[in-house]
Amino acid sequence: MTLPPLPLMASNGKPLVEILDLRLDFGSGDHAVRALDGVSLSIAPGETVCLVGESGCGKSVSALSILRLIPNPPGKIVGGEVWFEDQDILKADEDEIRHIRGNRIAMVFQEPMTSLNPVLTIGRQLTEALELHLKMDRSAANRRAVELLEMVGIPEAGSRLNDYPHQFSGGMRQRVMIAMALSCNPKLLLADEPTTALDVTIQAQILEIMARLSKELGTAVIIITHNLGVVARYADRVNVMYAGRVVETASAKELYANPRHPYTLGLLRSVPRLDESRKEKLEPIEGLPPDLAHMPPGCSFFARCRFRVDKCQAERPPLMLVAEKHMAACWEWERLGPEMLKAPAQPATIDTEVEAETPAVSAVQEGV
Ligand SMILES: Nc1ncnc2c1ncn2[C@@H]1O[C@H](COP(=O)(O)OP(=O)(O)OP(=O)(O)O)[C@@H](O)[C@H]1O
Ligand code: SF4
Ligand SMILES: [Mg+2]
Repeated sequence: MTLPPLPLMASNGKPLVEILDLRLDFGSGDHAVRALDGVSLSIAPGETVCLVGESGCGKSVSALSILRLIPNPPGKIVGGEVWFEDQDILKADEDEIRHIRGNRIAMVFQEPMTSLNPVLTIGRQLTEALELHLKMDRSAANRRAVELLEMVGIPEAGSRLNDYPHQFSGGMRQRVMIAMALSCNPKLLLADEPTTALDVTIQAQILEIMARLSKELGTAVIIITHNLGVVARYADRVNVMYAGRVVETASAKELYANPRHPYTLGLLRSVPRLDESRKEKLEPIEGLPPDLAHMPPGCSFFARCRFRVDKCQAERPPLMLVAEKHMAACWEWERLGPEMLKAPAQPATIDTEVEAETPAVSAVQEGV
């Protein structure tokens, strides 16, 4: 069943990015895995949007689709549209895509060493992009490179230009990546778990730098994270993903106060809250996500859901408007809401029969 596209959810005016009903397969025939199954989301200029969800739910491939970086084969976009500034990225030619990448849209990955060239100095890696995309001459590019390193808090930036990546710490390398990503004033920055590999104090510094610069430069940001603390602090809006779909989308404030999808509720109840006594039991989400190669016909959360009713197994819930600028894909959304955050813990509702029909892809429940 194909879902209708999601209405525009950008919080202010025209979206910068709009993904409509995107469907992506890996492999083909009986072994095809539907990694994205009708994903729709939008990002307004200057907005910070978080994508959250368990491992394998499609966060990274959603971001990579915006840059058309899905490896083909094995990946194949089989439907949908990806709009960036009035252009359908999926129909752009190679020259147009090259111009967009790094120039209009930049990306920061979890492990900067995989993105930095180990045999080029930090200075050269910064100036190369400035010369190529902004047509700066060498001395202007050098001056700008020093400014950029200062902007991300590298001490004695001028004297570090001739250093190689291995001479920088992990946190400093990630700062360099952010400097590189922002060097051409992109409209959109994609940050895929940008701080997961760093210790917590450095994580906080890097995220603060990203948030400050995106505000100063008016850059929209997509942050992919497992950390609900990061979401609460930095996101204007949140898209909760589950098994290749967006199952809930709202402003961060609304989502934390008024979750309307059982999976979101589960995420919120599985992490400690400062406004709750320590005696409150945390409630992990029991069970596993379905196998993307054998998706159940109805709701993909059915096997793990304690709110399920018969209809859920037969009919897939589309995203429904549940409050202003708040959508959730759950038939029973009216039974959820703020009071459920405080309700006593419930015994898990794991249906082993249903689980057997929908074998799990991963035994790992990430600590979202
Ligand atoms: N290159 C690939 N080849 C085959 N399958 C892939 C490839 N990249 C992603 N997938 C599959 O697509 C699905 C979505 O993957 P994705 O990397 O987007 O997950 P994710 O939500 O980012 O997870 P994580 O939190 O672990 O990074 C997964 O089932 C994954 O196995
Ligand atoms: S549609 Fe049904 S099974 Fe799915 S999340 Fe809602 S209540 Fe649970
Ligand atoms: Mg990922």
